[in-house]
Amino acid sequence: MGMNDDRWDYIQQYSREIFGRQDAHLAGLMDEAVQAGLPNIAVSADVGRLLMMLTSMTRGQLAIELGTLGGYSGIWLARGLKTNGRLITIEREPAHADFAQAQFERADVADRVEIRRGVALEVLPQLADELGPDSVDVVFIDAVKIEYAQYWRIVRPLIAPGGLVMADNVLGGGDGSIKDIGHEQRDAVDTFNRLVADDPDFEAVVVPLRQGVIVGRRKNN
Ligand SMILES: C[S@@+](CC[C@H](N)C(=O)[O-])C[C@H]1O[C@@H](n2cnc3c(N)ncnc32)[C@H](O)[C@@H]1O
Repeated sequence: MGMNDDRWDYIQQYSREIFGRQDAHLAGLMDEAVQAGLPNIAVSADVGRLLMMLTSMTRGQLAIELGTLGGYSGIWLARGLKTNGRLITIEREPAHADFAQAQFERADVADRVEIRRGVALEVLPQLADELGPDSVDVVFIDAVKIEYAQYWRIVRPLIAPGGLVMADNVLGGGDGSIKDIGHEQRDAVDTFNRLVADDPDFEAVVVPLRQGVIVGRRKNN
């Protein structure tokens, strides 16, 4: 059975319809964000559910997100944490961080979410010193695509045995796709995918929802 564009679009739409249930706050969050001037580039609801479900299958104590935007994916991640779990989410744009903070409060997860304001490649090394190796249960990467491999090198040692790395847009993003060999962003994401897939301490797979989410799990031994 071939997979032409129409069929692929239908499958994506079907997935959102059947697996993209969300509460009224999440359903309206990105419309409000757009009205406030934020770009409409959050994950979809089915990807959000994937983030929540997979987070809930870990120890659920500590998660890091790179790229907060309006807090949409952060709310899903926070809802997957255990009761005393914590999410640290990194955002460069003050207006995005302010909007997200209000959404975390509205979603009643502000007590477990901390926004670190700044550029990911500057914040991450500080965070690595602060948290130490094997301390993080979930890392969700969704900031600058050409920096994914650099993020990976910093966060990899932080991930606890049984912990997860997830990243959005690993099969495409913006106008491009993983088929566009030679395109800078595509090639950078390809490098990242291969680093995770070939890491002997991780098992990894791509979930082809929306623009592709990689899921890598650090082995227990
Ligand atoms: C794709 S959006 C994140 C979407 C969000 N994860 C969601 O699904 O709801 C990327 C975000 O990363 C932020 N960003 C871009 N470059 C960054 C950097 N170097 N460091 C930290 N955040 C950055 C952008 O301002 C934007 O809010």
